[in-house]
Amino acid sequence: MTDLAIIGGTGLTTLKALEVTRREVVHTPFGEPSCPLTYGQLCGKEVVFLPRHGPGHTIPPHKINYRANLWALHRTGVTRVLAVAAVGGISAHLGVSELAIPDQIIDYTWGRAHTFFEEDLRQVVHVDFTYPYSAELRDLLLKAAAAAELKVADRVTYGATQGPRLETAAEIDRLERDGCHVVGMTGMPEAALARELELSYAAITVIVNRAAGRSEGLIEMASLEQNLKIGMEKVRRLLEHLIPLA
Ligand code: HPA
Repeated sequence: MTDLAIIGGTGLTTLKALEVTRREVVHTPFGEPSCPLTYGQLCGKEVVFLPRHGPGHTIPPHKINYRANLWALHRTGVTRVLAVAAVGGISAHLGVSELAIPDQIIDYTWGRAHTFFEEDLRQVVHVDFTYPYSAELRDLLLKAAAAAELKVADRVTYGATQGPRLETAAEIDRLERDGCHVVGMTGMPEAALARELELSYAAITVIVNRAAGRSEGLIEMASLEQNLKIGMEKVRRLLEHLIPLA
């Protein structure tokens, strides 16, 4: 049985190095996950993989069924979830194509099904979310990054926005004043739902663009995709070094 799940984001709809052993269609009380779960061997370790935007990258961030995704992974018996996500860089010290391992989140999303604890409760539940990411998993990621000689930014606050549009320059100014270093659209409610299911959860973020108003001109999709490609190669390298430690 596997204890590690990987949720792929933009640019990681398949894990090339994954030797697929089987796929499983899962129905959950919360609806359908983004696609069937893929089981396989990654560098000799069994993992389960789920691309959150669907196999063809067709599900936008606000339409992802985060509850079904986390429920389906939890049902497999995994205890740890590693999420990969593309983000915009807000802080000047974070370069494009670089990786960042967030340790905090601010949630600006709205209208998403964001909790398992709302119906048929015996009593109201408030999970602790002081530290939204697993310290142990973050530590493993940082050790793997050192082993892979990859530069990663630590102690990063992730601002989760609603999307699918990118932000205005003023919105990014506000996020920066709030203390956000990177901005993305999928970090929440994913992290909180993982906590509600008592799954250890951490994220590898890839900075694919300077956030709105943080560079000359507009955000160009062509350069974003180029940065994504470079960044995802680093993610693959990081995962290769993580697996032997995990
Ligand atoms: N904003 C929000 N989400 C993102 C961005 C951004 O600039 N880049 C990649 N995901």
